[in-house]
Amino acid sequence: MQIQLPDIEKEALAGIKTASGQEQLENLSIKYLGRKGVLTQFLRHISSLPEDERPGAGKNANLLKVKLEKAFKKALNNIDAQKSNAFTGIDVTLPGRPALRGSLHPITQVAKEICDIFLRLGFDIAESPEVETDYYNFEALNIPKYHPARDMQDTFYVSENIVLRTHTSPSQPRVMEKEKPPVRIISPGKVFRCDSDLTHTPMFHQVEGLMVDENISFGDLKGILTTFVHQFFDKDISLRFRPSFFPFTEPSAEVDILCVMCKGKGCRVCSKTGWLEVLGSGMVHPAVFENVGYDTDKYTGFAFGMGIERIAMLKYGIDDIRKFFENDLRFLGQF
Ligand code: DAH
Repeated sequence: MQIQLPDIEKEALAGIKTASGQEQLENLSIKYLGRKGVLTQFLRHISSLPEDERPGAGKNANLLKVKLEKAFKKALNNIDAQKSNAFTGIDVTLPGRPALRGSLHPITQVAKEICDIFLRLGFDIAESPEVETDYYNFEALNIPKYHPARDMQDTFYVSENIVLRTHTSPSQPRVMEKEKPPVRIISPGKVFRCDSDLTHTPMFHQVEGLMVDENISFGDLKGILTTFVHQFFDKDISLRFRPSFFPFTEPSAEVDILCVMCKGKGCRVCSKTGWLEVLGSGMVHPAVFENVGYDTDKYTGFAFGMGIERIAMLKYGIDDIRKFFENDLRFLGQF
């Protein structure tokens, strides 16, 4: 036996020290500790040693084996640690990627703008359910069963007496049942009609308004709505009150504004009329007051309802209502 244990140790430790990577270390480990490795062979040849040297040689060889195993393990761990500290592909000198900021949906923004104007005029916000009873959506508003006025509203029925509200008007009887005059509320929210084309979506938004007190006149209706339109469109835009019919108001009027696109000359948007319809309104019908137990000799009031999508389209010159609901961030991000 020519190879001596101290030589093996020296050579192996030097090799571990200078090994430049995992592969070299693994090869070295095989060379010294593997099945055909230097140490294994040394152990096999112990039997050829003089008898008195055998126990010492065996013990020392096993001690060296443990020592080298530890050294290899430590060297491999060091390489792992270096790897995890190393450059991982993130260049911190690059400019950061901006986080995308969310914003309110244009419909939410316009609803808020409308509400803010009425809040400044002393109105309160009242909420009302989207899934509504036939009673509040129709009956309480003087629209009896089989009344032709129900044809105007393509209703989604949940069951015989439950509907998805077709307008925000049910907020009127709901509020008046709970509160005595004076009442001054606006009620924004989603409404549903079985209708879908360029200018209609099955779900859209409305804002309802209601003002009830002693001596409320059509003049108050005109004053409040004129103030609202001027503030919302930000200029002294002309309005016109056009006689109309709603079962829950008498007299009723639809409110038109001078076309914001052509200023009244007549264009595609206003169908060459020069005017754009923006809301329905009227003096609360006595039948509605009776349904909620208000004294019709003492109180009068006006109500109005407007579509938020429509008024938003006019304000921002949007030509297709479906854009609001397609979730295209390039469109939504403009507001
Ligand atoms: N609820 C009506 C609709 O959806 C709009 C409306 C008209 C509301 C006149 C009113 C009103 O409060 O007085 O078509």
